[in-house]
Amino acid sequence: MGSPFKKGKTINNCFLYRNKLILNQNRYTVMNIKYQLSTNVTLDYAFANLAYMTFPDIRKKAVSHNYKNPLLGVVARDEQKVAGLLLAEFDKKHIVSEIITLYVKPEYRKTGIGSTLLKHAQKALFSSGYKELHIVYWSNWKYSGTVVNLLDKLGWEKPENLMKIYKTNRKKQEKIKWPASLELPAGYEIFFWKDLTLEERRQLKESQQQTPWIDPGFDPFKNERHIETLNSIGLKYQGNIIGWIITYRNQPDSVEYNNLFIHPEYRAGLTVPVYLLKESIGLQLKSGPENFIWIIGEGNTGMHIFAARYLNQLIEEEINVFRRMKLDIDDQ
Ligand SMILES: CC(C)(COP(=O)(O)OP(=O)(O)OC[C@H]1O[C@@H](n2cnc3c(N)ncnc32)[C@H](O)[C@@H]1OP(=O)(O)O)[C@@H](O)C(=O)NCCC(=O)NCCS
Repeated sequence: MGSPFKKGKTINNCFLYRNKLILNQNRYTVMNIKYQLSTNVTLDYAFANLAYMTFPDIRKKAVSHNYKNPLLGVVARDEQKVAGLLLAEFDKKHIVSEIITLYVKPEYRKTGIGSTLLKHAQKALFSSGYKELHIVYWSNWKYSGTVVNLLDKLGWEKPENLMKIYKTNRKKQEKIKWPASLELPAGYEIFFWKDLTLEERRQLKESQQQTPWIDPGFDPFKNERHIETLNSIGLKYQGNIIGWIITYRNQPDSVEYNNLFIHPEYRAGLTVPVYLLKESIGLQLKSGPENFIWIIGEGNTGMHIFAARYLNQLIEEEINVFRRMKLDIDDQ
């Protein structure tokens, strides 16, 4: 597979060089870092040749995310060796581009390569008309502090808290204290999501098309390959499907909870959602894997109340996921 970073194949047919005086073991040496940029890094090429230089690992994210193809790439080279890499996804409308990985090999860090990779990506994308660059990072990453400093220095907007991720395990989750009497009100029934009929599936899709009621992000048909059939449950009211808790097995040892949804017209208090959660968690505790991952979007007040009330004491790790943006009107 030919490299998309070949001579003359760059976005504006130019190579970007940077000579740096580096203090290494108390001796100054000149490092000759060359930057190359391509807007044609195919996913096949990236997975086969660049994945080892990605953080977060693009192969892991690809389990639940369909990357847009091709990607923009900026590579930093020290002679023939790759020292750093940035990959970004961009939409065809030329509006938003998301940086999906930024990585510098440990021995090259703190020499300005990370910032330079970002600057080249910013320059190339804004000069071809993009309006916003996005980057997402997690509070538990070892280098999240460096990322924050780097983005501050390059004038990125303040962080937005996108979601919280709570991790826990069977031992802790078994201690959850459910309300003493928790019953489904009359007219409601639950069913295993795996038993959804083709006709029900068709009806759901049709009703969403006619009058959209499922919020983006809670599509029951997303990431279907990884649905955990063991404890994904649908909810009916008088025979009609009005909600679900769909869980995902993105990793072998964990079940991910990020899709509890109830039709807006049937939302009244926490009884029904808590009932669904109790059933679903109970099934995992009975015969599912060890670990539980809760992903709760910033605006999802109901789930945050649930987490504060029921999960608070049972969490192993709490992670904040932030997004920052760079707008083309910001100073470059
Ligand atoms: C985050 C990461 C890409 C930064 O790369 P980097 O090449 O070290 O970044 P820079 O050199 O531009 O900046 C890092 C620090 O070095 C400092 N620095 C830059 N040039 C320097 C020099 N010549 N001498 C001394 N310090 C220097 C910067 O001021 C910055 O310091 P600060 O954190 O105190 O503000 C790198 O640490 C990494 O790959 N981490 C692991 C993967 C990761 O977390 N990626 C983030 C994905 S969003």
